[in-house]
Amino acid sequence: MCGIIGVLGSHQAAPIMVDALRRLEYRGYDSAGIATIHEGALDRRRAVGKLVNLSDLLVENPLAGRSGIGHTRWATHGAPNVANAHPHQSGSVAVVHNGIIENFRDLRKELGKNGVNFESDTDTETIAQLIARELKAGKAPVDAARDSIAQLEGAFALAILFDGEEDLLIAARRGSPLAVGHGDGEMYVGSDAIALAPLTDQITYLDEGDWCVLTRAGVEIFDVHNQPVTRITKQIKLDSARIEKAGHKHFMAKEIAEQPTVLANALAHYLNDDASIQLPDGLPDFSAVDRLIMVACGTAYYACQTAKYWFEQLAGLPVEIDVASEFRYREPPIGSSNVALFVSQSGETADTLAALRYCSGKASDILSVVNVPESSIARESSVALPIYAGVEVGVASTKAFTCQLAVLAILALRAAQQRGCLTDAEVAKHVDALRTVPGLVNLALGIEPSVERLANELAKARDILFLGRGAMFPLALEGALKLKEISYIHAEGYASGELKHGPIALVDEDVPVIVFAPTDPLFDKTVSNMQEVMARSGKVLLVTDATGAERAREGTWDTLVMPECDPVFAPIIYAIPAQMLAYYTALAKGTDVDQPRNLAKSVTVE
Ligand code: M6R
Repeated sequence: MCGIIGVLGSHQAAPIMVDALRRLEYRGYDSAGIATIHEGALDRRRAVGKLVNLSDLLVENPLAGRSGIGHTRWATHGAPNVANAHPHQSGSVAVVHNGIIENFRDLRKELGKNGVNFESDTDTETIAQLIARELKAGKAPVDAARDSIAQLEGAFALAILFDGEEDLLIAARRGSPLAVGHGDGEMYVGSDAIALAPLTDQITYLDEGDWCVLTRAGVEIFDVHNQPVTRITKQIKLDSARIEKAGHKHFMAKEIAEQPTVLANALAHYLNDDASIQLPDGLPDFSAVDRLIMVACGTAYYACQTAKYWFEQLAGLPVEIDVASEFRYREPPIGSSNVALFVSQSGETADTLAALRYCSGKASDILSVVNVPESSIARESSVALPIYAGVEVGVASTKAFTCQLAVLAILALRAAQQRGCLTDAEVAKHVDALRTVPGLVNLALGIEPSVERLANELAKARDILFLGRGAMFPLALEGALKLKEISYIHAEGYASGELKHGPIALVDEDVPVIVFAPTDPLFDKTVSNMQEVMARSGKVLLVTDATGAERAREGTWDTLVMPECDPVFAPIIYAIPAQMLAYYTALAKGTDVDQPRNLAKSVTVE
């Protein structure tokens, strides 16, 4: 959470930083702020709420200077107000921070005893106060920063600027990602390569525990033991056009619409023309694996839940899944014939990364399915499988979900083949079915006008239920998550057969019940559960194909007709109505679709 940027440039830094913060706003938008050095003096501007408030403030009260640091905040310690907004300054030092300083109470107490007065409730101000104390003790800026960083516990990415030092910026990384950007006589730091995309494509990712000294001439990097180290500089190709809305009203709308293209792209990376599977070297032989452990958070977790059906039904492989925040603390036993697989769009989710580290050295292999190939999760895996979804900006994950499913389906087919559960010919049949998915997703996008009409009704509801059976159950959970996170309507997903064990008490004529039911072997059972809802005046929206609609639409409130598809891969295609219903309901309610309240795209704190 929180995005940081640092610039040692040859032009005015404020507009460059505001532009970079715009690209980082997906990490948090509770407040924003920048600090620059002009004619040797440090100055800052901070504003509560969206970045636009900071831009307005800068119009009234500009900030000059070619060196600066900036921040967009997702509040952890202290309310979203100006005093708690970054940069935090103490005397001649200003700091921006992403992460949580876990020992800040002890440090604050100790500084307080030495007469330090705090202006904010944040953990971050402690860092500025610590460095200021070291400077007062006569240390040079670099030494003061190094010795202060050594006292910090917890997770952080930092950028630090000093009064009177126009050609010096110190940055550090522990737990939270940080990228150094190399320009021509200019240097940058940013939370990710997206922030730096228009400034440079030459990126060095700091390793865990690294800190560095930037000047316009370059960067010196030190490891956790303060030893100088060299880290690889890579050319990161990021198409800035793909970070724009491309004519859509919201990033989420653009990302929903992109799915046929990105899915086709993802499949093309892993499937050969002869319907065989092409996966990177280094993957385990699944015939020797006795358990697959899958761990993720949020939407990525629902992708794992869906894939569990594929690994179990197609490959006969026992699967254990858990949300990362629970997995790591229940200390599950892991054997050397277990494979651990982590799924994450960002590749930086703190709990997922911690769960991966828990499994390292215990499981035979650490695999990941990620969208950001340079992310911490990808780098700490034995094999990382990119999903090729392209940059996802909307807080609500859409195209990353379907691309995660596509890659997990291919991995399940490989496992099925190796474990002798499917013949090569059977795998090829599934591959052919998978190849039809981008086209079917494209057809599914055609339900948009119907969804828009239904969403105007859904927007009036206080509670909405989603039902599904088999692999449609995780999709019911995903549909409910999508709806609540962007429309703020309370929604729950249930396995259709579970409804009568309690939740059916919620059903009345005011609670819409959305049922995902492609014509598959479980269709009749799902329809029976749907009848139970309708018998209690429930208002059912049936999402099915033409065959299913023909058989079961009678008595429903409405039906969304999807293209006919292979039931195995239906969860990928039925993700479209789940996403669109959430999007148009949020639109009808007038909520902030791309930046819903209280959320951030990348959850880099526990
Ligand atoms: O980057 P990750 O995939 O690890 O993120 C996991 C969740 O935070 C994420 O899927 C979240 O639930 C989305 N906002 C859901 O739309």
